[in-house]
Order: sequence, then structure tokens, then C-alpha cells
Amino acid sequence: MNIKDLLNQMTIQEKLGQMTQLPPHMFIEASKTTVYGDMRDLELKKQEYLLAGSVLGIKDADEMIRVQNIILKHSRLKIPALFMADIIHGYETIFPIPLAQAASFNPNLTKEMNAIAAVESSTAGIHVTFAPMVDLSRDARWGRVMEGYGEDPLLNEKMTKAAVDGYHYGNPKEVGYLASCFKHFAGYGASEAGRDYNTVDMSYERFYNIYQPSYQMAIDAGSEMCMLAFNTFNGIPATINRKLTQEILKKQMGFDGVIISDFDALHQTVAHGAARDDERAAELGLHAGLMIEMGSSTYLTYGKKLLNAGKITLKQIDDAVYKILALKEHLGLFDDPYKGASTSREKTLVRSEKHLNAAKDLSLESPVLLKNNGVLPLNKMKKIALVGPFSKSQALLGAWRWHGQSSQNQTYAQTLSKVLTLVSVSKSYDVSHIKDVDAVILTTGESDYDTGESKSKVGIDIDLQASEAIKTLHKNNIPTIVLVHGGRPLNLTSITAADAILYTWFLGSRHAEVITHILLGNVSPSGKLPMSLPRHVGQYPMSYHDFNTGRPFNPHNSEYTTKYLDLDLTPLYPFGYGLTYGDTAVALISELKNHWDGSSPLTLIFEIENKSNFVIKEVLQIYMNMHPSIPVRPVKKLIHFKKQLLNPFEKVLVEFSISINDLIIYDEDKNQYFDPSTLTLMYGFNSKDTKEIIIDWRPHHDIK
Ligand code: BGC
Repeated sequence: MNIKDLLNQMTIQEKLGQMTQLPPHMFIEASKTTVYGDMRDLELKKQEYLLAGSVLGIKDADEMIRVQNIILKHSRLKIPALFMADIIHGYETIFPIPLAQAASFNPNLTKEMNAIAAVESSTAGIHVTFAPMVDLSRDARWGRVMEGYGEDPLLNEKMTKAAVDGYHYGNPKEVGYLASCFKHFAGYGASEAGRDYNTVDMSYERFYNIYQPSYQMAIDAGSEMCMLAFNTFNGIPATINRKLTQEILKKQMGFDGVIISDFDALHQTVAHGAARDDERAAELGLHAGLMIEMGSSTYLTYGKKLLNAGKITLKQIDDAVYKILALKEHLGLFDDPYKGASTSREKTLVRSEKHLNAAKDLSLESPVLLKNNGVLPLNKMKKIALVGPFSKSQALLGAWRWHGQSSQNQTYAQTLSKVLTLVSVSKSYDVSHIKDVDAVILTTGESDYDTGESKSKVGIDIDLQASEAIKTLHKNNIPTIVLVHGGRPLNLTSITAADAILYTWFLGSRHAEVITHILLGNVSPSGKLPMSLPRHVGQYPMSYHDFNTGRPFNPHNSEYTTKYLDLDLTPLYPFGYGLTYGDTAVALISELKNHWDGSSPLTLIFEIENKSNFVIKEVLQIYMNMHPSIPVRPVKKLIHFKKQLLNPFEKVLVEFSISINDLIIYDEDKNQYFDPSTLTLMYGFNSKDTKEIIIDWRPHHDIK
């Protein structure tokens, strides 16, 4: 298809139609598809909305084919619509929520999950996913932390790359390849007070060092689209923020794809107080280079008027439409507008046995074991009581479950009763009648309905009834294993008396089976916390990635040092923390000089030893600090990690290559600093318990 020729034949209204994205119910009244947010009456005439260039949130193949037929029938130039949807952690086969995927510290698993999600969603003719969400966040009050990869820039980058690579399976023109739209640009995860949609105000130093890397990684991995965030970014709604879109996203970061708004966000610039009305919103959107407006209709309604009045240029419209048409060509839609959509493929591929088994296998590394005084694994235990609200629950899919079917999920009561004697099962926390059992499994946490978009909250403590139950069991000498469910870090301070604590997150279609496997010791837990767990909600925003301040906390003389009067400064469990059923030791075995000039990489070789008879996977983590440095550095910054399989009593060598890229820090003008200083490398199995290597950093003269 010659895109330029096509563009030249289009009328202004046809072009503005391409820049508009509408939900399927605009085309088929009976459509049952739900989309996030409130759908206003857009007051478009039928001839206008039939011009829409893309559709969001399609339900299945039948619906896609019907909508595409309607659009093609009315399209003078036979331009097919693009179909986009939120395929976030699976289509119908649901995988762990992204935060739980990050907890695996194994990006390859995410790649495999997304490849399956791409194949399944292709059966409904979905061409683009609104994913990955790569908004780094350090605030558990924000419900959308479940959709992201946690608090650390490096973990976010690695997960982002894997997520995009997974969706981009095979050739873009072939069925099974899902184009990706990374989101939400920029800084959505830093909304003030963790309140969704709230203001984001951020220094560029912080943006470049912490928030930008994962967006950049999505671009480098070939993400075709970028969704702008709902929030203001340094005073201007991201949707119309020219500095963000033109200078940062396009020029500085090299993004050359399609830019889309979030749902209704162009219209919402009026509520923000930035645009007087929809007409002005359209003008500002076009000036900012916003190419598709999702769920609102300001371009179609006012675009032509603005053009005639000379307030926008034809080039602004043409540049946007060219990119949209080029994306359709890239995905092969001009050759096959129904690409992939097939009710028969749906029957064989979606929620197939193979995919459901993969959901189990790929979820095994996400749960995080926080405490275990020997009660786990449960292999020798016979008689178990199961209590708490998740005991018989099927609601284990996680927030982006819209194609998923929780009614098909197994419950803990079902999976555990197959392998143990469940002497009692109760949805309540009442443990007063429990006796003659080897252990109690107590399920607690938040419901998956309490997580995700618009689910900000300040109550992140565990239900008091759970801690009362644990105290009672403790008094009666009954071992207690707690299974915590959550889409965010929860405050576990009140339940640390339990004998074992397993953070299960929401694992999707095979949640209960996966946890049962782990409880029985068929597989050792190997997850690590992608966000520190707090002692109190008042600590937010928080992360391990803290700065020293000029008055670091001093436990021996704490007056006038940085601290809380009434709370320990540290997290309850730090970033990167998680136990296995084994026992591991690590030793640095490479000989290091005490200085380094960066002209060649620094090789670190470690020996990790599994001192147990369990097969385990451990994550060796390397952190760094440089002192002095301007800008100042966090006390610890993760620069490498490696997940290593260890057979019983095995010793394995693990090698890392440290390069000057690991030392980069940007100032607010994006200059890099490599001044001579003391480089401290730290290694360990979590961010807190680390050993140090101190190196004199004297940069080679070629390094600026
Ligand atoms: C969310 C986006 C999502 C879009 C379409 C919005 O409310 O913020 O992340 O992609 O809806 O469903």
C-alpha cells in the first residue's frame, strides 16, 4: 500500500476520523464490551463515528468481524480499522499481575506469558495491546502498582524489554504478533499522595535517572505506540504537553511511532483547567502532536473548523495520519483487515490446556516467601485447617481480568484437599474451635477488586481479625502459615508472629494450584520483593533507593537526624528480599585491583553455594554507590542481578561484567557525570544484607 497516495486521496474529515478511537458499542449497540472510565455521549453523527480509524476493547472474533465489516462498508477508501485492547496479564488464560511477574526476577517468564497472550488475543483480531505499563512507582497507595514492575529502574527496564519482546512474537504482519503501546507517558506512577489521576511534579534529574529508563527501553525494544498519561506533568496535562511529546519523547528519546491519549483525556484537559473547551483542547492536542484521541471526539468535531481558522496546520494532521496508516501497513491490515479473527481459532487456542499449563509453570517463581521457621514445606504434615476469606475464593485473577473467567478457577479448598487432609475449611478468621491439626493455613490480604485503576487507598494494613487469629493459634502452639493476597505492598507488621508468610499476589488462572505446589515443596519459592514492604502507610513514597541526606540517621545519637519520632525508618521487608527452602552462601572469588579506570569492564566472579538438599533458584543482586558525586547518588542502586538454578549442595560460579554504563547518572540537563570518586559495589540476596567491595574510581581520559 502506498500510504502517501492514500493520504492524498483523503478528505479532512476522513483524516480526523483516523485520529479518533471509539469503543465497539458505537458501532454495534448490543456490544457487551466494557471499557474503563465513563463513556459520555459524544454527540457524533453516524457518518462521523463511522470514520473512526481504531476501536478499543473488543470482546471476541465475532464482534471484531462485525465492527470491521461496518467500518469497511462505510469507508470510501476501504481503510480498515485498527483494533486495540488492554491485554495486560493475559487474554483468557490469565497470568500473574505484572507486579508479581516482576517478583520472579525472571524476565524470560514474562516474555513467554506475553507471547501466549498475543496468540490468544489475535483470535479476536486484536492488533495492539495497551501494554506494557512501565510506570515505575514507589507508592503502594496507588492501586495501579499492580500493573507495573515496582520501585526499581533496572528491574523495570528488564521487565519492559521482556514484555515488549513477548508481544512482538514473530513477524508484525503475521497472526500472533501483537503490537505494543507502552504507557503512561510520563510519570503516572508518581501521582501525588498515591491518588490516581493526581498531579505529577518532578525534577528532571529524578525523571532522567529513575522514571525515564523504562519508557526508553520500551522505545528501544520497538514499541510502536505510546500512550500519554492522564496526569499533569510539571504543570501541564501530559496529553497536551508539547515539551513532553515533542522535545522529550520524540527528539530526546527518539520515539517515532503513534502517540495516543488515555481514555477521554483530551476532553479532560478542560476539567484540568488547561483548555477553555473541547475546541481549544483539540487545538492544543494537535499542537502537541497527539495523533489519536481515545474515547473523545474533539478532533472530529472541531478539527476542520480549527484548520479553516488557521489555528492548526494541514501538516499537523497529515503527519499524524501518515503514522497511523503506516502502522496499519506495518501490521498487514491492508492485506487482511480481519487478521487473525476467527471463531474456530478461538475454540482451539483460547484457554487451551497447553496455555493453562503454561500459566501454572510460568507463575511458580512469583510468590515471595517472607518468613519460614521450618513449618514449610508441608510435605510431612497431614492434618490442616484452612481459614480466612480466600479459602474458597475463585477471585484470584488480578485486576486486568476482563477476558478471564474466575468461575473456572480452582479454590485452595479444592487444590489442597487433593493432597492433604483438610479437617476444616472456613471463610472466616475464627480459629477458636481448631485443635488436633498439624498446621493452620490462614488466607488474608486485599481483594483483587481493591487493586488497579482508581483503586487508591490508604488502608494497607492486614485485617486485625487475621492478627488476632494468629495470636490465638500461637498461644495454642498451632503452627500458622499465612498466605497474603495483594496487588500492592501491604503492611504485614501485625502478622509477623506467624510461622510462615508467603506473599502470593494474584497469579491468574492457576493461582491455587501454584500455591499448593509451593506449600508442598514440589518447588521452592524463589520470588523477591519488587517493592519494599512498609511498616506504615505514612512511609510513602518509599524505596530502598534512598539518599543519605546531610543528616543520616544515627541510632546512637538520633537527635536532628533524618527519622520519624514514632516509626522505624526501614521497611518491614526490603526490596529484593525473599527466601527459598534452601540455604545459600555467596563469596567473591575474582581478584580485584583496588582501582578501576573504566577502559575495560570490571569482571566480578562469585561462587554461590546451595547448602541444602532442595533444588532452588537464588537471585544474586549487585548494587552500587559513588561518593562523592554530583548529583548525589542513592545509598544503593541495583545495577545487575542474576537468577541462578542450584541443585542440592551445588556450587555455581556466576559472573558479572561491570561497565561504565552502570555508573551513569544524569543531571537535570541530562549531562553525565564520571568524576573521580570512591565506587562501592555491594552484593547479596536482597537490598539490605549486602557485602561491600570498595574501588578507587579514576576514569580513563577518554571517558567524559
Ligand atoms: C487506562 C488505560 C487503558 C485505557 C483503555 C484507561 O482508563 O488508564 O491504561 O489502556 O483506559 O482501556
